[in-house]
Amino acid sequence: MFATDLVTLRRVADRLRATGPASAGSVRPVCVARAGGSRRRDGTGVVRIGSGGFEGVGPDGEYGPLSGLSGSRAVTAVDLRTDVAHAARVYNYLTGGKDHFPADRLAAERALAVVPDLRTGALENRAFLLRAARVLAEDGIDQYLDVGTGLPADPNLHEVVQRLIPAARVAYVDNDPLVLAHARALLTSRPEGVTAYVDADVRRPADILRDAGHWLDLSRPVAVCVGALLHFIPDEDDPAGMVADLLGALAPGSCLVLSHGTGDFRPKEADAGVRAYRDSGITVRVRSRAEVTALVPAGMRIGAPGVVPVQRWRPDHGPGGVTDGQVGLYGLLARKP
Ligand SMILES: C[S@@+](CC[C@H](N)C(=O)[O-])C[C@H]1O[C@@H](n2cnc3c(N)ncnc32)[C@H](O)[C@@H]1O
Repeated sequence: MFATDLVTLRRVADRLRATGPASAGSVRPVCVARAGGSRRRDGTGVVRIGSGGFEGVGPDGEYGPLSGLSGSRAVTAVDLRTDVAHAARVYNYLTGGKDHFPADRLAAERALAVVPDLRTGALENRAFLLRAARVLAEDGIDQYLDVGTGLPADPNLHEVVQRLIPAARVAYVDNDPLVLAHARALLTSRPEGVTAYVDADVRRPADILRDAGHWLDLSRPVAVCVGALLHFIPDEDDPAGMVADLLGALAPGSCLVLSHGTGDFRPKEADAGVRAYRDSGITVRVRSRAEVTALVPAGMRIGAPGVVPVQRWRPDHGPGGVTDGQVGLYGLLARKP
C-alpha cells in the first residue's frame, strides 16, 4: 500500500471515529478499499485480506484489513454524488428502501408519473431474481456472481441461497458508490460460506472475473445474475458481448439469470418512462423479447418457461393477478452445457 493511500485511509478513519458510525443517508465515506497484495482464508471460511492487500475503513470507523471487499479503483473517499439520480437509489426508493436522496426521489416520481405501475415491476423483478436464485440453489448451484447487485435489501441474495446451501459463495458486483458504501451489509455470510463485494463496472468483464476469482472457484459452475441491469447499457456498449465474456470464462454447468425492462406490452408508456429517466440523467434502453433473448450467449440453453414476464417465471403461488403490462420486465434462466 502506498504511503499516501495509508494517510488517506487513516484520515478517513479519524473522521469516522470523530463523527460516529455512518448511517443511511450519510454522505460521509464509509468504506475505502484497494486491491492488491496477498490474501489468506481464516478458519471461518471468510476470506480476509492481510496487510498489503485490501485495507480500509469500515462503518465502525476502525482502520484495518477489510474482508470481502475488492475493486479496481484506487483508494479514494467515496463520492456519493447525491446531487444526481442513481439507478441503484431510484430502485431502492421504488422497492420501499430507505437509501435515497432528493434527486433519486425526484427521478422516481417523474418516472412514476408516466409509468404508474413501475413499483409493481420493480417488486416483481426482485421477487423473480430471488426465486431464480433459490431454484438454482435447490439444484445444487453453490456459487453466485450477482452483477448490478443494488443496495442491500431484505433478503439479500446470499441469505436466500445460504438458507439452502450454508457454504454457498456469493460475489456481489456494482459500480455505484452508495452500494460500495453499504457493502458491509452484504458481507454477512454464514460462517460456512463467503460473501464478497467487488466495486466494478459490467462493461469490464475481465476486471470482474479477475476480482471475483479471489472468492469464487471459476473452474466450477457459477450462476451469473444480471437482474434489471442491462437496460442501463446502450447497444453501442455491446451488452451481449459483456454477458458472453462473463459466461465464456466460466465452467460448463454455469448459469445466467437475467431480467430486463421491455416496452412490448405498453410501448408508449415505456417510451415515456425512458424519457423520464433520461431527463434525470439515467440512460435506459428497453428491449423487445427478441432483443432480450439475443443477450443470451450462443450455445446456452434457456430453461422452461423460456423468456417470459418475470411474474410468470415459475411463480410460487401463480402470477397473483399482476398483468404483463404492469410489470414490463422479461426474465429468463439459461445454462451453459
Ligand atoms: C435496478 S437495480 C437492480 C438491482 C438488483 N440486481 C435487482 O434486480 O434487484 C440496477 C443496479 O445495476 C447497477 N448498475 C447500473 N449500471 C451498472 C454498471 N455499468 N456496472 C455495474 N452495475 C451497474 C446499479 O448501480 C444498480 O445497483
